Amino acid sequence: MSEQLNIAVVGATGAVGEAMLSILAEYGFGDANVHALASERSLGKTVDFGRRYLAVEVLDDFDFAGCDFALFSAGGGISLKYAPRAAEAGCTVIDNTSAFRLDPEIPLVVPEINGDLLENLDAGSIIANPNCSTIQMLIAIAPIYAIAGINRINVATYQSVSGAGSEGMEELARQTMDRLSFKDVKPSVFAQPIAFNAIPVIDTMQDNDYTREEMKLHWETCKILRDDSIGVNATAVRIPVFYGHSEAVHLETSRDISMEEVREAMHKAAGLVLIDDTDPKAQVTAVTHAAGKDEVFVSRLRRDHSHPRGINLWVVGDNVRKGAALNAVQILKMMVTGKMPVET
Ligand code: A2P
Repeated sequence: MSEQLNIAVVGATGAVGEAMLSILAEYGFGDANVHALASERSLGKTVDFGRRYLAVEVLDDFDFAGCDFALFSAGGGISLKYAPRAAEAGCTVIDNTSAFRLDPEIPLVVPEINGDLLENLDAGSIIANPNCSTIQMLIAIAPIYAIAGINRINVATYQSVSGAGSEGMEELARQTMDRLSFKDVKPSVFAQPIAFNAIPVIDTMQDNDYTREEMKLHWETCKILRDDSIGVNATAVRIPVFYGHSEAVHLETSRDISMEEVREAMHKAAGLVLIDDTDPKAQVTAVTHAAGKDEVFVSRLRRDHSHPRGINLWVVGDNVRKGAALNAVQILKMMVTGKMPVET
């Protein structure tokens, strides 16, 4: 690897791409030679990178040879087409889309949980970044899994519109103004009106009547925890919040465990903040705790009164940061330094 790192950000004009650029600068890569890549539509634009502006380059014309890392977040189709080309050119790809997540040959990584998979990877490897909802749920429950195992998880997600990219945020803003001005709203990104509403569909419907977003929570949890015996039963809901996903998680451990042991394990876990307080004003929310932060926050931790091994918790995280851009940069940082980017 050359002295000055060469890093490409694919989808640099998008919601996650912009966050990748600012987190790269924050996480010690401000001196790297960074290429901001997007479509021809963005030719002539500039994007912020630390104290610099970068001219946007067109992905189609870009040669990945000489690039050490490429962070992809421009949609699954773009990753399927260009990530293997980048990898063949010797550039290590960290892909934020679902294109490669379930490929058994490709590591699916949350550094705090299975960062060991990053050891000894060759240049030109592809690494997959998990789904935003999976990442924050696993940061919260991995400490419980480590000490007591988990048989089953029921989870309802309350997901912000930034998960649908900049167009999702624009649709919420536009519909909110239209509703308040008594105008008709016209859904386009989302299947139903999103302003002042909750939509129980994210991603496409599957043959089993779950959505793909819901099944990702199951598939990715099993892969990351390396345990196919866990059942994840999810309902994924889009709500009119700009940044930060929330999740009501109800799980059953495999072994008996006291709530004191659970609290202790969660307090020690990297990247996780447990607020153990029953005051309504202390409860964590997407807007007050998650948005703009690196950690995943948990409150409402309690024993499920209907099951002796049941545990309930409320989890919030910034879906654009830890759920996407930050996790990708942490993977990059761990590969460059060989160290865990998050202190315990
Ligand atoms: P562009 O702005 O040029 O369309 P978001 O998820 O916030 O909607 O962002 C999607 C990102 O993916 C944007 O940076 C967008 O660039 C990029 N993108 C979309 N289609 C292409 C493409 N065909 N080639 C390169 N980048 C693309």
